[in-house]
Amino acid sequence: MNNYKVKFAGVSMSVPDKVLTNADLEKMVDTSDEWIRTRTGMVERRITDENTAASDLSYKAIEKLFKTVDIKQKDIDLIIVATISPDHLFPSTACILQKKLGLPPVPAFDLSAGCTGFIYAVTIAKRFIECGMSKNALVIGVELLTKITDWTDRNTCVLFGDGAGAAILTKAKKGEISEIVDTYINADGKYGDLLYMPAGGSRMPATTYTVKKNLHTLRMEGNKIFKAAVKAMGDAAVTILQRNGLTGEDIDWLIPHQANLRIIDATARRIKLPPQKVIINIEKYGNTSSATIPMAFAEAVEDGRIRRGDMVLLDAFGAGFTWGSVLLRY
Ligand code: UT7
Repeated sequence: MNNYKVKFAGVSMSVPDKVLTNADLEKMVDTSDEWIRTRTGMVERRITDENTAASDLSYKAIEKLFKTVDIKQKDIDLIIVATISPDHLFPSTACILQKKLGLPPVPAFDLSAGCTGFIYAVTIAKRFIECGMSKNALVIGVELLTKITDWTDRNTCVLFGDGAGAAILTKAKKGEISEIVDTYINADGKYGDLLYMPAGGSRMPATTYTVKKNLHTLRMEGNKIFKAAVKAMGDAAVTILQRNGLTGEDIDWLIPHQANLRIIDATARRIKLPPQKVIINIEKYGNTSSATIPMAFAEAVEDGRIRRGDMVLLDAFGAGFTWGSVLLRY
């Protein structure tokens, strides 16, 4: 059994141009800029047009990505797309991307783990490369949540946005400092009904009734999710640090899932990380589910905050419930 070291070769992001501000939302539902800012930290989010799907936004991030890495498109031999808003239920968005990229037959699949999707996808891609099954994995977190949002529900419609993040994982060379040190994933299906989309699957296929009742949109019991997220994201951070003999002091950057600024602050406090070491972009993009982490990662690499050799902790919580963390030296 091989046990190659695996690293992030690069990471990039893409968002649609159209901005939806808190002021815009004030005109749509009974809400206020003040409520949204103080309760969530969000100021604006991006929203796609009706012709754009998950694979389109992902493709833009991938095009950018290949300009920043010395790996060729033709050398990708695994595609994993983490999403709960794919182009279609099937075929997978990963297969659609494989076609768009003109790649020969390689394993390609989607993964549904809610907002923890990118952490799950990195975990799986790492294992594929470690054991020698793959050399260069394209790992994507993409969501067009505004397409499954109930725009009459102020409890949810102010929270979500669209975006894509793409990364390439590859074998680290001997002696190289960059490496994914460890990954941790977990789930508890007991709480599935606190955050879900009622219709559109085999439980409740599309009918005129489901469409009339707006059942093809996301439902969330925000307050219960909030409490669970604070605990699970803190636990995921502590678990991965402890089992690697580290503390918050060893971390250069925390990249948390961007669902709520108060959840992010609580997670940083739990591992005693000062706010200047936390990557936050929730004010610009809102909650883009599985895309928040690769998007925030990409922005921080692009603007030079995260540099090669930095110790980075990724940490997420989402529908399922799912939660998990990744510890890496970039
Ligand atoms: O990404 C995956 C997981 N998702 C999350 O982690 C999200 C976790 N949850 C949250 O971020 C927060 O729970 C929310 C931001 C969704 C809500 O914040 P909250 O502090 O938990 O508020 P709440 O749900 O307890 O509601 C407080 C009040 C309610 O009014 P009453 O009953 O006190 O009169 C709501 O009706 O705020 C009201 N409210 C709003 N008011 C203005 C809810 N949404 C809005 C709104 N504008 N958009």
